[in-house]
Order: sequence, then C-alpha cells, then structure tokens
Amino acid sequence: MRAPPERDSFTHPGLERSLMARRKKIYEGKAKILYEGPEPGTIVQYFKDDATAFNAEKKDVIDGKGVLNNRLSEFFMTGLTQIGVPTHFIRRLNMREQLVRNCEIIPLEIIVRNYAAGSMSKRLGIAEGTQLPRPIIEYCYKDDSLGDPLVSEEHIAAFGWASQQDMDDILSLALRVNDFMSGVMLAVGIRLVDFKIEIGRVYEGDFQRLIVADEISPDSCRLWDIETGQKLDKDVFRRDLGNLTDAYSEVARRLGVLPKSNVAKPTLIN
Ligand code: TMP
Repeated sequence: MRAPPERDSFTHPGLERSLMARRKKIYEGKAKILYEGPEPGTIVQYFKDDATAFNAEKKDVIDGKGVLNNRLSEFFMTGLTQIGVPTHFIRRLNMREQLVRNCEIIPLEIIVRNYAAGSMSKRLGIAEGTQLPRPIIEYCYKDDSLGDPLVSEEHIAAFGWASQQDMDDILSLALRVNDFMSGVMLAVGIRLVDFKIEIGRVYEGDFQRLIVADEISPDSCRLWDIETGQKLDKDVFRRDLGNLTDAYSEVARRLGVLPKSNVAKPTLIN
C-alpha cells in the first residue's frame, strides 16, 4: 500500500494557518504548540521555528528549525521504540507536526551528562568537554517563572512530584536513552555531551507507565563533532556561533534524515 501524500502545506503560510485554525489549541510553549488530536488520548505536536534561550530572554525565529526538529525527534523516538524504550511518538503527520500520545508530564527536566558543559561547568568550575567519570543525572523543576531550578531527589519526594518507583523508572529510562543516543551519534562522528528529556505518565487500566515524551532534538542535546569539536546544537544560537539550521541540517544529513539539501528552506510556489 502506498503511503498517503504528505499533508504538507507548509510551504504555504495561508494554508498552514487555515488548517491550524480549525483545531483546538491545548498549549503553546516556546518551541512547540499542542493541539487536540483526532482520537481520544492523542495530541498533535507542532514544531515552531521559534528559538529561545536563557528562559526566553533571547529569542529569534530560525527558518526551518521546526521542520528539522520534527524529523529528528521522529527519528530518535522511533529508534527508541525499536529497542523497547516506550515513547509518546505515534507517527509524523507532515513536515511540522507529529501525532503523539497524550500523557501527564512529570514536572521535571531530566538532564543526563557525559561530559561537563553548560550550567554544570559554570556551577562546579569544570572545563567544558571534561569527560565525566560516569553519566551524571540532574533534575530541574519545570517552572519557567523560577528558571527551571536544579532540585534534588529529596525535593522531588517531599513535594510529591514523583514517587520512589517513578524515580527508579526515570533513571533507568534516562540511562537507556543515553546509551541509545550516544551510540547513534558516535556512529556519525558526533559526541553526545548531554541532553534533556521529559517523562510522561500514561494510564492503562489500573496501571500507570512512564514514557519518554516532549522531544529529542538538537534543541535539547549538546552535540559536538568528534574530530573538530564543532557545536551542532542549540548552543550555536545561545552563544551566537553561526547558523542554527546549518548545524541541525548537518546532524540530519549525517543521520540520513532529510536527504534533500534544501528541505529546511522551502520556496513559495505561486
Ligand atoms: P544546561 O547545561 O544549560 O543545564 O543544559 C543541559 C542540557 O539540557 C543541554 O543539552 C541543553 C538542555 N536544555 C534544554 O533542553 N532545555 C533547557 O531549558 C535548558 C536550560 C537546557
């Protein structure tokens, strides 16, 4: 059976707007919009071109970023599913949208670090790029108004954000994602320095299960070329190091996602 043609419009802003207007918006974040999905328990996740950093103090619109992140998140989530790591991903709908399972997001950002960088380097005075003795997991409380502060497992337990069983499951999911992502990246000459994931709760009868949710993309990872150390992630935007879509396209190209060179910059057809 042939796959239906992609409903991608998304060379045409007018059409894009009219399709989007018909759906109920559930939530708009900094980089994505969530719409009610076609069936109960589903959500449409729309990837915007907006880039923000430092809790949205720095903002820009980066042509094609949403298209790349939609594809890359699909690629990583599909790979995780194939090795038995449960994720929210159901299927990609078009260039900017994917259908995902609705879940209750645990209000934590789970960060896994293999090499020191970013806030950890700053906080502990460890040079960026220093290999860590083992992967280090950090938890941040998801609250933009507080700037997503680092919290300990004590805070998480005391405030009831997750149970001890959840924390065990989260740790195991985070380490499996780390092993998978590190291997996939290593195979294309990229070092996975660190990344952030979010975890969601789904209910199945009397049971609840935790799944990897949100997105996995160069917005939420640090990716360095193994040979040159060149940054291929959102630090390019955070630190003004060059063109962000070029960096994300390079990651996509190496992974064999987005074979067409100009997909990130569609041209308007009149
Ligand atoms: P950090 O070094 O700034 O704490 O970032 C650690 C990792 O988490 C890095 O891969 C980028 C990612 N991250 C997000 O995905 N969202 C955020 O809001 C922040 C601050 C970091």
